[in-house]
Amino acid sequence: MKILTQHINEPGIETFDVYRKHGGYTAVEKAIKSMTPDEVVEEVKKSGVRGRGGAGFPMGMKWSFLAKPEGVPRYLVCNADESEPGTFKDHYLMKSIPHLLIEGMIVSSYALGANKSFIYVRGELLYVIAILEKAIAEAKAKGFLGKNILGSGYDLELVVQPGGGAYICGEETALLESLEGKRGNPRNKPPFPAVKGLYQCPTVVNNVESISNTPWIINNGGEAYAALGVGRSTGTKLISASGHIRKPGVYEIVLGVPVEEFIYSDEYCGGIRDGHYLKALVAGGSSVPILPANLITTTANNEPRLMTYESLSDGGFATGTMLGSGGFIVFDETACIVKNTLNFAHFYRHESCGQCSPCREGTGWMEKILYRIENGRGTQADIDLLVDVSRKIEGNTICPLGDAAAWPVASAIRHFRHEFEWHISHPEEATRPGAVYPTEAVLN
Ligand SMILES: Cc1cc2nc3c(=O)[nH]c(=O)nc-3n(C[C@H](O)[C@H](O)[C@H](O)COP(=O)(O)O)c2cc1C
Repeated sequence: MKILTQHINEPGIETFDVYRKHGGYTAVEKAIKSMTPDEVVEEVKKSGVRGRGGAGFPMGMKWSFLAKPEGVPRYLVCNADESEPGTFKDHYLMKSIPHLLIEGMIVSSYALGANKSFIYVRGELLYVIAILEKAIAEAKAKGFLGKNILGSGYDLELVVQPGGGAYICGEETALLESLEGKRGNPRNKPPFPAVKGLYQCPTVVNNVESISNTPWIINNGGEAYAALGVGRSTGTKLISASGHIRKPGVYEIVLGVPVEEFIYSDEYCGGIRDGHYLKALVAGGSSVPILPANLITTTANNEPRLMTYESLSDGGFATGTMLGSGGFIVFDETACIVKNTLNFAHFYRHESCGQCSPCREGTGWMEKILYRIENGRGTQADIDLLVDVSRKIEGNTICPLGDAAAWPVASAIRHFRHEFEWHISHPEEATRPGAVYPTEAVLN
């Protein structure tokens, strides 16, 4: 069952005509000609679709929070900044089938009463910006954008904005600052964007994948969408699969596929590369806690782990993780957990906006300590120091970048403490190319 990628491999699908031939823009026709904006919101609510940018907040609920003061414009902003390490699904969707996002933007803007909407695209993706602009021009020429869409009296202007070139610009309030032409620093909340967003006007920020689901929901009904998946994890999800697997790529799964099937089935990742075995998993992008092999395919209660928001987080952070943005990074036994944790820590230190002291200082300290452990100069006390620093960042910052920096470090130590200890006690062996990292069982 595919909702977003069903036609993605059709030759010419990036053009208006081919997209239209495969049922494109029928959701715009249906919504604008036969539904009120509130009815569109209602269908999205019924679908149960949750935001695909990472936090998984129900999309229909977010839309219903949008303030509607008289005489004040409302905005829809699509978050296409996609800079989370391990996540590359929005890029794939936009470059391959740009009209899907544009159709979703029209349907969603109509539902929210927005007459000017923005797609804020990761600044490095200049060629994707060109693809989107071309598609917007085509849609406009066919009467699906601009003034008086399909003779309905509804106007919509769609603007593509190149991003500021920083991971923090993906955080929704930093994104709004950046869109306003300022430095991308997150705002204090409340007020939330639904009340005071872009230019202090009510604004909805949604991810590319979230918005791209709306044409299908309008064509097939929210209930049909909600019938897919498991429990509160409805519909399908794009997973960016990378690392030591045989078939890396972007896969659209119906939520609820067992993690074991996703890793080992030929339909998806095709298993671990030849001759190697599973060691660890980062299931939802670099920000989520890492899981060791024994907690990947089954939960701590020995139940099959499923690709759902709930099952992946089963056990809380003690034994679970998060679906996040679906950046699924698989590690085999050759991966060094210390080195990987340092790699992530380096990223967060570099990307911290510096506004909050715990994040600005803490990310720097975590990188420094990990660097000395990785380079043979760590002490056993450094391990607890790392945990302490991560705890001082978590929950103490304006935006969740601090948590995102703390969780990978804290979880790596929680599950792979033995490897940090071994790294410190065997510095030469640990940093030798081709080192074999001992498992906890061997060390005990
Ligand atoms: C540091 C940071 C970076 C983020 N980057 C992105 C991003 O690139 N794309 C995205 O959709 N959401 C990103 N988010 C989440 C957004 O703040 C926001 O929750 C999301 O765009 C809402 O859309 P959704 O409800 O459709 O998921 C990021 C959050 C943080 C804290």
